[in-house]
Amino acid sequence: MNAKHTVLVTGGAGYIGSHTCCQLLNAGYNVVIIDNFSNSSPDVLDAIMAISGKRPALVEADLRDADAVRVCFDQYPIDAVIHFAALKAVGESTAKPVEYYEHNLLCTTTLVKGMRGRGVKRLVYSSSATVYGMDNPAPFREDMPISAINPYGWTKVMTERMLTDLSASDPEWSITLLRYFNPLGAHPSGLIGDDPNGIPANLMPYVNKVAAGILPELPVFGDDYPTPDGTCIRDYIHVMDLAEGHLAALDYIYTHNGVEAVNLGTGVGYSVFDVVRAYERVSGRTIPYRVASRRPNNADAPKAYADPAKAARVFNWKTKRGLDDMCRDSWTFAKTRLIKSDA
Ligand SMILES: NC(=O)c1ccc[n+]([C@@H]2O[C@H](COP(=O)([O-])OP(=O)(O)OC[C@H]3O[C@@H](n4cnc5c(N)ncnc54)[C@H](O)[C@@H]3O)[C@@H](O)[C@H]2O)c1
Repeated sequence: MNAKHTVLVTGGAGYIGSHTCCQLLNAGYNVVIIDNFSNSSPDVLDAIMAISGKRPALVEADLRDADAVRVCFDQYPIDAVIHFAALKAVGESTAKPVEYYEHNLLCTTTLVKGMRGRGVKRLVYSSSATVYGMDNPAPFREDMPISAINPYGWTKVMTERMLTDLSASDPEWSITLLRYFNPLGAHPSGLIGDDPNGIPANLMPYVNKVAAGILPELPVFGDDYPTPDGTCIRDYIHVMDLAEGHLAALDYIYTHNGVEAVNLGTGVGYSVFDVVRAYERVSGRTIPYRVASRRPNNADAPKAYADPAKAARVFNWKTKRGLDDMCRDSWTFAKTRLIKSDA
């Protein structure tokens, strides 16, 4: 693709969005970010500039603001959208279900109505492996039934349904539903990475803060699962691989109509202790941990990993980086951004 294409990236200052923006800019796309910085910082734009040599355009606004979305489409010649903006903390979604349904569904409906108003019908949507629920055996394939076990997951299931119905109502739409597995790692420069506001809900930002001396120990939620070391097994994917997957999905929607759900994962599962050991090995730091009880409501499936065959077939994409790369790049990010400023 080339500079004729202008892509709107919602939530482009966030963890996955910022890595994707760098790769889009490197590939010659024009990039417009819409973000309200509710879980990121405007400094990320400087980091994207430092990495790619180009500054994306920024619309600082809430995606639920229909007028702001309309102005954004009026101002820029957008011809495709990658939609990351959402609330994503599973535990918080259980405590505040109404806010999660309202926020995540309203973001997408407002966006899609804005797109429709300007005849923009290419969309890459951030779904999640959480839509495989608890009843499917790993490896997860895209043709398995989907469901959820928490409000966050249901917002992904419902949005997939809505976008599938949209595509059925108007065959000019071209939509990919990307079911991410568990992103880890950072840009190798250490300038961008996973740095959520507040106490991290995901494994690696937590490990980073323990390694940086900001948090005392890592809670491990359960070591009595039916897995070799008792901790849950997940399909960890390097965020740079994930970002490349978005470029492959974008190539696809420029040439195909309809809707496709596609897993972005490696097909390989690692336990929590595998990740901690790999991190300790590449960083030279010890990560103190404390085994806590399982999270409530059977929140964690013992094993979740992808069958990545469809992405290879449809997008001609597969992952290139391994667990050590994910841990090394996360550690570089911790040294660059966390230790200097906070520790
Ligand atoms: N990180 C993961 O483990 C993971 C796994 C599967 C799926 N996902 C999905 O991928 C997407 C991106 O995840 P991430 O980890 O980069 O999250 P993130 O929180 O780092 O990024 C989301 C960005 O969206 C912005 N945002 C949120 N609500 C907004 C609103 N109403 N208006 C404008 N901007 C808003 C935030 O400020 C942030 O910059 C989300 O949809 C998430 O559900 C993430």
